[in-house]
Amino acid sequence: MSRLAGRVALVTGGASGLGEATVRRFRAEGARVMVADIDAARGAALAAALGEGVRFVRCDHTRRAENEAAVAATLAAFGSLDILHNNAGGPFAGAFESADDATLERVVAVNLMGVMKMTQAALPALRDAAKARESGAAILFTSSLQGIKARPNFSIYTVAKHGIVGLVRSLALELAPAGIRVNAICPTVTETPMLPKFLPGMADDMAEARRRFRATIPLGRMPEPVDTANAALFLASDEARLITGVALPVDGGQMAG
Ligand SMILES: NC(=O)c1ccc[n+]([C@@H]2O[C@H](COP(=O)([O-])OP(=O)(O)OC[C@H]3O[C@@H](n4cnc5c(N)ncnc54)[C@H](O)[C@@H]3O)[C@@H](O)[C@H]2O)c1
Repeated sequence: MSRLAGRVALVTGGASGLGEATVRRFRAEGARVMVADIDAARGAALAAALGEGVRFVRCDHTRRAENEAAVAATLAAFGSLDILHNNAGGPFAGAFESADDATLERVVAVNLMGVMKMTQAALPALRDAAKARESGAAILFTSSLQGIKARPNFSIYTVAKHGIVGLVRSLALELAPAGIRVNAICPTVTETPMLPKFLPGMADDMAEARRRFRATIPLGRMPEPVDTANAALFLASDEARLITGVALPVDGGQMAG
């Protein structure tokens, strides 16, 4: 399969969960992929397992210099950057009232500041790529269902994930003349190592937590990372050439209700 043949992608948080599934799908469709993550052990192991065409760079996306270095490493390894997938993020669950300054800053940094800094670092290379290819370049973000709705006790995460959707809409308009499409994926709770954090108070009985959660999904299927990865693949590919500025739920119908 070659829906991304000739493309180069950089995936933050690509060492685990939704990012890892996306790296695998992008590679299977012909892209060369840079995995950018703070988890060097997992990231390097994934790159080694996938072989030629996948590299790893250690990168904390909250640090501007590390983002610039990750983009430079991508250009050095593969010669261009056509697709940026801002996927890295981290959970927050708890009462808003009692969150201290360090928590407010950490959750916003890892879920919102980091994706803005990485996008700025990647834009010169994405602009070059868009000039070189009629179908342009693409930026994706992993927001969340919490980017388009809310539930109690996820407030700071919800603020950051809503912020991503605002950024997507703004950048879609700002970058359309340059041929760069900008979209977000909004997964519901999905089977990744982050899962216990999204089902608070139930982590001691995950089987029961999964059963109860699955019952809230109209399609009745527990979301898997590949479901999000397939949505990312579509939005990154030329099949989505007229799609920009959307926040696409991957939720088995939860948002329809
Ligand atoms: N799993 C879910 O239920 C779910 C639902 C909606 C949205 N999301 C979002 O999906 C994204 C991926 O989450 P996941 O579930 O795959 O989690 P995960 O924990 O499996 O993977 C997250 C990856 O991001 C990396 N990471 C964390 N902080 C980083 C930083 N500062 N710089 C670079 N890399 C960093 C981690 O090392 C890890 O490899 C996150 O943005 C998360 O908020 C997850």
